[in-house]
Amino acid sequence: METLNLQVNKRIRSIVGSSTLAITARAKELKAQGCDVVNFAAGEPDFDTPDSIKAAAIKAIENGFTKYTPSIGTIDLRERIAQKFKEDNKLDYTPSQIAVSCGAKHSIYNIIQVLIDDGDEVLIPSPYWVSYPEMVKLAGGTYKVIPTTAESNFKLTASQLSESITNHSKVLILNSPSNPTGMLYSKEELESIAEVCVKNNVFVISDEIYEKLIYDAPEYISIASLGKEIYDLTVTVNGVSKAYAMTGWRIGYSAGSQAIIDYVKKFQDHSTSNPASISQMAALQALNEPQESIVAMREEFQKRRDQMMTAFDEVPQVKYIKPDGAFYLFCDFSQLGVSLDIAKQILDDVNVAIIPGEGFGAPGFMRLSFATSTEQIAEGTKRIAQWIKKRS
Ligand SMILES: Cc1ncc(COP(=O)(O)O)c(C=O)c1O
Repeated sequence: METLNLQVNKRIRSIVGSSTLAITARAKELKAQGCDVVNFAAGEPDFDTPDSIKAAAIKAIENGFTKYTPSIGTIDLRERIAQKFKEDNKLDYTPSQIAVSCGAKHSIYNIIQVLIDDGDEVLIPSPYWVSYPEMVKLAGGTYKVIPTTAESNFKLTASQLSESITNHSKVLILNSPSNPTGMLYSKEELESIAEVCVKNNVFVISDEIYEKLIYDAPEYISIASLGKEIYDLTVTVNGVSKAYAMTGWRIGYSAGSQAIIDYVKKFQDHSTSNPASISQMAALQALNEPQESIVAMREEFQKRRDQMMTAFDEVPQVKYIKPDGAFYLFCDFSQLGVSLDIAKQILDDVNVAIIPGEGFGAPGFMRLSFATSTEQIAEGTKRIAQWIKKRS
């Protein structure tokens, strides 16, 4: 028996493992045993990266574009991202105000490291993406969860924000469309939140990674585009993972005031250096090419979203709010019991993997990903409905 008294760093000790991992590990185990598992647990598009993007990466390798680049990314890519921000988001960032990192997760992690000091408080509306609280802990900060409910469409209101702010509050993390709820903030909602942040001098990390996957709204609004003062306080985060089915390539980026990005650069200089040169070329291609592949993927996701919603319309024990974006249906299973237990039972009994809400700060709920085929959606929802019927 190992007796080593391992005293690792106290911040590392404080973080909790990913809640999604336990379910996906069990799903893999069942699959290995030959079970026909339907996977509604995925956090990434099931599509392959478009061929033209792969070709750009292959060309980069063949051309020997395999050396270090500037630590915050090549000037070509940052110029292209600046153009993207201008065209898509009405945001003016110079290339030097942009840092390319190893995925949007890395971008958010680095910004939190830069902005948060010991004891600084980060405001996180729940349900939230699982990594935000852990990132704050890793920076030595504290976090305050601001619970939202189905009644407010799982969106933070300006008055809720205002009531939650204290002298220690330094940053608000906003995620629109949201993982796990799929909710999208309107321009008016963002304006009222921006007003509170400006009044209280609270920074915003605006996680816009699902920007391209919105289904009903006519346009996407970035909070930083709503005025000079909120622009100065906001770091806008995006990336290519979800929009271009490029999760494995690890390219994300952040843009904000020059002073903040200069610190992100210094941090990256001494930690990861540049994200992979080849992936940067692939990301440049993704942004440069005609955006038909994005449109086709979005249309397919919308079809699947509607299919999943229709299936649950027949299950009175499960309630959901129509997601505006991303690829998750966030369902209220609270009538059925403790979500952690229910998710395990559904996986074991009918082999459908779904993610319980506990890890998102929303016990009672489940996140069901529709980043899977229409056949799998039909099969998985049928199995869940039958399982619930049998129990009731
Ligand atoms: C809300 C949210 N932000 C950021 C990320 C990270 O994306 P990336 O793959 O670019 O690191 C994810 C990935 O699941 C996410 O869901």
